[in-house]
Amino acid sequence: MLSVLHALNGQLLAAMERAFPEAAAQAAAIGGESPGQPLDPQLGPASKPEFGDFQANGALSLAKPLGQPPRQIAQAIVQQLEADPAFSALCEPPQIAGPGFINLTLRPERLTAEVAARLADPRLGVPTAADEAGGQVPAPVVVDFSSPNIAKEMHVGHLRSTIIGDCLARVLEFRGYPVLRLNHVGDWGTQFGMLITHLKQVAPEALDTADAVDLGDLVAFYRQAKARFDEDEAFQSASREEVVRLQGGDPLSLKAWALLCEQSRREFQKIYDRLDIRLSERGESFYNPYLQAVVDDLRAAGMLVVDDGAGCVFLEGVSGKDGKPLPLIVQKRDGGFNYATTDLAALRYRFAQPPAGDGAGRVIYVTDAGQASHFAGVFQVARRAGWIPPHGRVDHVPFGLVQGEDGKKLKTRAGDTVRLRDLLDEAVERADADLRRRLEEEGRQEDETFIAHVATTVGLAAVKYADLSTNRITNYQFSFDRMLALTGNTAPYLLYAVVRIAGIARRGGDLKGGSSSAGGSGPASAPTLHFSEPQEWALIRELLRFDAVIAEVEAELLPNRLCSYLFELSQVFNRFYDQVPVLKADEPSRSSRLALCRLSADMLRLGLGLLGIPTLERM
Ligand code: ARG
Repeated sequence: MLSVLHALNGQLLAAMERAFPEAAAQAAAIGGESPGQPLDPQLGPASKPEFGDFQANGALSLAKPLGQPPRQIAQAIVQQLEADPAFSALCEPPQIAGPGFINLTLRPERLTAEVAARLADPRLGVPTAADEAGGQVPAPVVVDFSSPNIAKEMHVGHLRSTIIGDCLARVLEFRGYPVLRLNHVGDWGTQFGMLITHLKQVAPEALDTADAVDLGDLVAFYRQAKARFDEDEAFQSASREEVVRLQGGDPLSLKAWALLCEQSRREFQKIYDRLDIRLSERGESFYNPYLQAVVDDLRAAGMLVVDDGAGCVFLEGVSGKDGKPLPLIVQKRDGGFNYATTDLAALRYRFAQPPAGDGAGRVIYVTDAGQASHFAGVFQVARRAGWIPPHGRVDHVPFGLVQGEDGKKLKTRAGDTVRLRDLLDEAVERADADLRRRLEEEGRQEDETFIAHVATTVGLAAVKYADLSTNRITNYQFSFDRMLALTGNTAPYLLYAVVRIAGIARRGGDLKGGSSSAGGSGPASAPTLHFSEPQEWALIRELLRFDAVIAEVEAELLPNRLCSYLFELSQVFNRFYDQVPVLKADEPSRSSRLALCRLSADMLRLGLGLLGIPTLERM
């Protein structure tokens, strides 16, 4: 209901100006918080449902500058408001509460009209970014997420990045931004020296035959190479020479490198396919041609300082324990570049205009919170170097650690790191077992295709939802039992709400929005909506919050806000459905309530879709 909120804000502001024409000047003279707009209705959602829909607290801050009791000020504003026919069309007569709060309640016919508009709108009331910008298509947004490292296993941290990043990308896409989903894989660096050296020694045939090694081996392979590197000096120097050859573009070294990348890529892709994640790979190696220019330009800008042989930029406002400013190292003593150099080159490329860049307006990085200072440093240096345009926005979206139920780092019972494949398998297996138990209890007969489909959907949804529904900043305790529970803020609970509504349709409720008189072929005519029960109004008010929730997720990049909303919506829906007859109600209540059922289901489907979770018709 953001558009209603904006309209009300305008009406309140105008009423305040009419009530106190002298107030603007006066408040400005006293030094209002924001000179130029000293009058602020301070409009927000009501703090309690019994106060109505909105609450305007602006009268209170006018008390001092005007030297009048705030209730009297509120009274004067309300008088002006009631003289405005546009306001009276929106709201019931306002109530003044406490020291001078103005409580506003939308008229039932207005709420009904909003419901009717949502029923006819596939976007369910959420405008596109272009709608808001007068039709202008917004600049692309880069979402840099997942980003595992070649030849290493993708771990639970990467899973978090993948799930959160995908959700943010989906929300931004829904809002109509062109989104670049970039997989900044770690596909370059000195570790390839040892990997290639090891490969050439133990599996020279891999360089002639495709598919001679697979990633199951490749992770072990990484460990072997690392062990040799740590022990064997000859191996170390061979590895160093190999890095030089690789950087110099030696064809055989490049071939070995490409082979290792391809093997990893295939394993990663299996996880992405299972989770329905789309990503464009653009690894660190992509930026190799731009690294030298980054350092050169920093030097030309007078920002580069050579400290102990390394090329550094000293950060402003960031100092170490000794109180001295901390450097961001961009060129190592041996002349090589590092993670930060690559990220600077990437940031510059992403904001640069095409064809030499992505022309992004916003760049979002989804990684563990441990990389916060890295990104803060990179962002600062890029800003100072002028690589981020004035309105360009950069966000690091940090998240906490994934822990086991013991509060320690997530490990297998044997104490090993958990492989993602195994983790997803286990979620699906447990969902499968839960489902079979439930079918048995309910005496239901279902075929194996149904069971496999439901178990896979529920298992994967549970993993995603458990991650998305906690505030990402905090560490997150991984618990199969909790995430698969049918009650509480879980994926199964939400999926079940959708199934419940689908069941209403199966039992004869026409959820398509057509009145019973509408023929099968013609466009369904909208039902005449009539609402009377408090449970209906509660559900309507919940349904109409969706646009504000999406705006919040976009601004704060917090998927848990969307999860909480969908959970509350399901609860309010269930209360409505348990307490008010739907199929057995008389007209016009029957079709009006069915319309609410349909809108609830559409919103849950859309919302879960934005979380990357497909819904089920039966489960
Ligand atoms: N490969 C890194 C890791 O595994 C994450 C990369 C994140 N993206 C970036 N542009 N630095 O920790």
